[in-house]
Amino acid sequence: MTDWAAYRAEFPALETQAYLNTAAGAPISRAAAAAAIQYYEATERDGDVHWDDWLARVEAVRAAAAQMLGADSGEIAFVQNASAAMTLVAARLQGRGDVVLVRGDFPSVTYPWMVAGHDVVFAEPGVHGGATFEELERVVTPETGIVSVGLVQYRTGFRYDLRALGRFCRDRELLLVIDATQGLGAVGVDLSHGDVDFLVSSGYKWLTSGYGFGLMYAAARHLDPAAHTAAGWRSARDPYALVSDVLDLSDKASALELGHPPFAAIFGLGAALELLQAIGTQEIENRVLHLSTRLGQVLEDAGLRLPPTGPENQRSGIVYAEAQMDPVRMRNELLARGVYVSARGDGIRCSTHFYNDETDLERLRDALDSMP
Ligand SMILES: Cc1ncc(COP(=O)(O)O)c(C=O)c1O
Repeated sequence: MTDWAAYRAEFPALETQAYLNTAAGAPISRAAAAAAIQYYEATERDGDVHWDDWLARVEAVRAAAAQMLGADSGEIAFVQNASAAMTLVAARLQGRGDVVLVRGDFPSVTYPWMVAGHDVVFAEPGVHGGATFEELERVVTPETGIVSVGLVQYRTGFRYDLRALGRFCRDRELLLVIDATQGLGAVGVDLSHGDVDFLVSSGYKWLTSGYGFGLMYAAARHLDPAAHTAAGWRSARDPYALVSDVLDLSDKASALELGHPPFAAIFGLGAALELLQAIGTQEIENRVLHLSTRLGQVLEDAGLRLPPTGPENQRSGIVYAEAQMDPVRMRNELLARGVYVSARGDGIRCSTHFYNDETDLERLRDALDSMP
């Protein structure tokens, strides 16, 4: 039996409020905070004498991230944020055909392609917020080369069936680029079938590792150094050779990191991944889906309208409900009652991660009951 109460106790932020807002930004665990703080303390105390240890730890975290995704370590890069990673992918895939995007996706999924000058076409979302395969089929033309979507729709919580989407793209010889920011850490993301070409994810939501940092996956077949669009000293095959007049770039995703790694953020992610892996991906997904189902029931019982949801493999930790008043006011009224959610569009977006429990949902129910 998983001791959910013990895992919850790792997150002090949950003691003071019903934290139903991981889709906006997650609290980090004691261990993740400690890992980052210890790095700064060591630097304060000893300068950079631990450099070799730090680099080894970076590679250990990279290996853990690769394992979570069913990828190879050489396919994982640490990035500043999901938007920067998508920008890099859009630059790398110049000339690979038109890009299919989905209207209503988060701007970090769409802007990078648009600003890089790709020809883009928008598929229209269905009732659940994602595009159906029929709709994707409708917008794909002989010129299409790339499909880029958010794995989980940031507002509605709709989740694409990654296997099915992968097959759809493979059958049509389209490249598939995924932003997994609203899913990774909450639902299983398995890249071992090889149908995903690039995946980016921020770290501060379901991975619970804090702001301004993320990771990306680039399938090994896309890591030809000749395709690099940026390089720094750590992009070299042998960074310590410090050859500056001949390009000899690495074919590992770490080449995309360019310069020194953000150690504190990477160590924080390392601790976060340790916790996620200790619980287990399937266990977490089961709990997230169970809690988000219960969350939906609480919202519906309070008379809020929810958009239709699909089967389990199309759901996530996010639940959207139409607000009964101005959404920002509703969010503020809930916050005043110790319940933390987001206002989005015409509604409120609530979300449950593995560390939530029934007490959070009871608090939400009581808060909704006492609304003006
Ligand atoms: C799907 C998605 N991608 C990206 C982001 C933002 O990530 P970053 O700031 O790391 O670019 C968000 C934020 O809500 C998001 O929902």
